[in-house]
Amino acid sequence: MKQSFIFIGLLASQQVFSHIPDFSAHQTQAVYADLNLLKQARIPVLYADNQTNIGYSVLTPTMLQKLSELSHQHGRCGNFEALSQIPNDINIVKKDLDAVNKQHKKDLSYMSVARNLTVAQNPKIAEALQELKADNIKQTVTWLSSYHSRYNKGANANVHVNDFYEKMKLMTANSSFPVTVDLISHRSTPQKSVRVSIKGSTKPDEYVIFGAHYDSISGWGGTGRAPGADDNASGSASLLEAMRVALTKEQPQRTLEFMWYAGEESGLLGSAEIAEAYKVEKRNVIAVLQLDMTMFPGDGEFKITSITDFTSPWLRDYMKALNTTYLNIEILDDKCGYGCSDHASWNRRGFPAVFPTEAKFNSMFQYIHTDKDVISSVMSFEHSLVFSKIALAMALDLGNSTQREALH
Ligand code: BES
Ligand code: ZN
Repeated sequence: MKQSFIFIGLLASQQVFSHIPDFSAHQTQAVYADLNLLKQARIPVLYADNQTNIGYSVLTPTMLQKLSELSHQHGRCGNFEALSQIPNDINIVKKDLDAVNKQHKKDLSYMSVARNLTVAQNPKIAEALQELKADNIKQTVTWLSSYHSRYNKGANANVHVNDFYEKMKLMTANSSFPVTVDLISHRSTPQKSVRVSIKGSTKPDEYVIFGAHYDSISGWGGTGRAPGADDNASGSASLLEAMRVALTKEQPQRTLEFMWYAGEESGLLGSAEIAEAYKVEKRNVIAVLQLDMTMFPGDGEFKITSITDFTSPWLRDYMKALNTTYLNIEILDDKCGYGCSDHASWNRRGFPAVFPTEAKFNSMFQYIHTDKDVISSVMSFEHSLVFSKIALAMALDLGNSTQREALH
């Protein structure tokens, strides 16, 4: 079958599962969610993978409400992976969850062998990290959160994207090595993604990818004010600051790509299409870093979390090794329980991904997806800077290394 992933290219939005009560398609929401949570909420599970503990359901508004209430953070976010449309064939779901299961088994085999991954100190990298500035992150978050909304639907879906694209062209214009800036169109949303590619000198076909979603949302969509300062102007800004410094350094051996994704809030839309295209083109992606929510220090400043589901154990170990060598902050482990951000788009297509975020799932900023997601005294740009350091250290180390996912 050509199509293995439901976020892309679905033919029908109409529900075809006869065992679901008859709700019109616009009232229902297809989701992948934590199986226990679905069972607890007594929501019919239409397909389950017991090893990864993920269930597929189509939610009515009542079920959606129940799931939100049961989830750790009341109504602050879905606690499920929202599919952009209802798949017209259960085999699509099966294929999707089989891919996640395959990845899960590979990860378990990595984790069954004790490893001691270390990264040697490079004084040039340590110096480069000192050039990152929290104030630059503040400026970018201030700018991005001043748009009424960065929602992926509607007449203004690309206003901020076009502005950002122009800024990227200016920023990269005087680079001493080949850099390309692209606006990427999507089939699943009118919003575009932005990609900056720094061409690798000796291994241009090996990619290290850094991403953040650039869109915002208010409630479950619509035209409301959606400043999305923490979710995810903050991750977008942390990424931009890392790229700014990377552009002033030597050309990396591997190709570095920085991506600002469209339509994450409507079901990981932009990243799904990009990851699918890279899979079809058989691109050699060494690693993918996702930054989503970086400026609320919910567990204390400089205490961050590494998301352990839908991510690569090798890359998580690698990130911790980078931390030991260059940052030495505390990195906690936690799960989302569902594919909560763009890392999941890459992971389910077999690419190693890692996702450091501001705090543990339950300590995250509570007002995302509302008009209260703004800059305030509870936010810390120094906390955001930690993520720029991780991204830059990864760019300069992994971009010039032979290291890759261990074969097992
Ligand atoms: N930034 C959130 C993801 C997130 C929330 C990570 C809380 C960790 C803790 C992201 O933008 C988001 O809102 N994701 C959706 C799911 C997505 C597939 C539509 C969510 O969590 O409901
Ligand atoms: Zn969000």
